Amino acid sequence: MTGKYILEVEGASQQYFDQSEKSFQVLNNINLQIREGEFVTIVGPTGCGKSTLLRMILGSERPSAGNVLMDQKPILKPDRNRGVVFQKYSLFDNLTVRQNVRIGLELENFSIFGNLLNTVFPGWKYEEYSTLVDEYLERVGLLQHGDKYPYQLSGGMRQRVAIAQAMIMKPKVLLMDEPFGALDAGTKDQMHAFMLEQWQQTGQTILFVTHDLEEAVYLGTRVIVLSQYYQGANGAKIVKDFNTPWPHPRDQSVKEEELFQDMIKTIRNQGLNSNYLLNQEEFDLSHADAIQLAS
Ligand SMILES: Nc1ncnc2c1ncn2[C@@H]1O[C@H](COP(=O)(O)OP(=O)(O)OP(=O)(O)O)[C@@H](O)[C@H]1O
Ligand SMILES: [Mg+2]
Repeated sequence: MTGKYILEVEGASQQYFDQSEKSFQVLNNINLQIREGEFVTIVGPTGCGKSTLLRMILGSERPSAGNVLMDQKPILKPDRNRGVVFQKYSLFDNLTVRQNVRIGLELENFSIFGNLLNTVFPGWKYEEYSTLVDEYLERVGLLQHGDKYPYQLSGGMRQRVAIAQAMIMKPKVLLMDEPFGALDAGTKDQMHAFMLEQWQQTGQTILFVTHDLEEAVYLGTRVIVLSQYYQGANGAKIVKDFNTPWPHPRDQSVKEEELFQDMIKTIRNQGLNSNYLLNQEEFDLSHADAIQLAS
C-alpha cells in the first residue's frame, strides 16, 4: 500500500427525483479518501446510497454537488482505470465465456481506425487477445469452460467470468457491488479466497459493497458504514470508518476471534442501529484515514 490517495470524494452529494418530481437527497456531503491498494468494504442499510456512491466513483453518474477524483483528476465518465462487477447482469447471455471476457478489449478498439484495420488485416490482434483471454480464464480457473454460455455455469463460475471480464482491462480500481450476494456460503468462501489472492497479486484498490457483515470484516482492510439514520439527516453520510487489524493473507480462523465478532457487533449496534444513530449529532467527518479499532 502506498501513501498517496488514489480516490478522493470531496463534499459529494447526490439528489434524485421521486415519481412526483420532488427531489430527495441520497448522499449528503461525503468526504472520503482512499489510498492505493486499500480493500475497502462498504455496508449500510438498504437504499442508503451505496450503489449510488459506487456509480459516482465509476463515473456513470455525476454528483449533484462536490467532486470525485482519481489520481487528483475529476472523474467525468467511466474509463478503463475503473472496472466494475455487479451481483448479476455483468455478462452477455448470448456470448460464450471466452467472448464475454474479451468484449472489453474488442470494444476498446471499436473505432473508425480499428474498423479500418480490421478490414485491411482481418483478425489483427486476434492472437494477442486470445492469449490474454486464456491467461485470465486460467487465472479464474475457467480455462476448460471457455466455450460455454453463461446459462451453463454455476453462480460462482459466472461471477468469476465477470471478474475476469473486469480484470482483463487491468483497472487500477475495482468496484464491486454485492458481487457474491447470490452465492451459497461455501461458494462465497471460495470466492473470498480467490478475491484476496487476486487483490494481493495485482495490488489493485478495491471498493466492495456488501450486506454481509462477516464478509465485510473478513475481506476489508477498511470497513465503511454509510447511513442516513442520524439526527437531522438529509441524505446518507459515513457513520463509521475503521481499519481491520489482521494482516493479509488472513485465513478463515480470524472469524473465530473475539475482536472479529466484536467488530461485527459494533457495526450492527452502532452503524446499522437507527435507534443508536438517531441519538447521534450529524456526522461531519473527513474520512482521510480510517481509525484503528482498539483491540
Ligand atoms: N436514478 C435514480 N432515480 C431516482 N431514485 C434513485 C435512482 N437511483 C437510486 N435511487 C434511489 O436512491 C436511493 C439510494 O439507492 P442505492 O441503490 O444507491 O441504495 P443502496 O444502498 O445501494 O441500496 P441496496 O442496499 O438496496 O442495494 C434509493 O432510495 C433508491 O430508490
Ligand atoms: Mg445497491
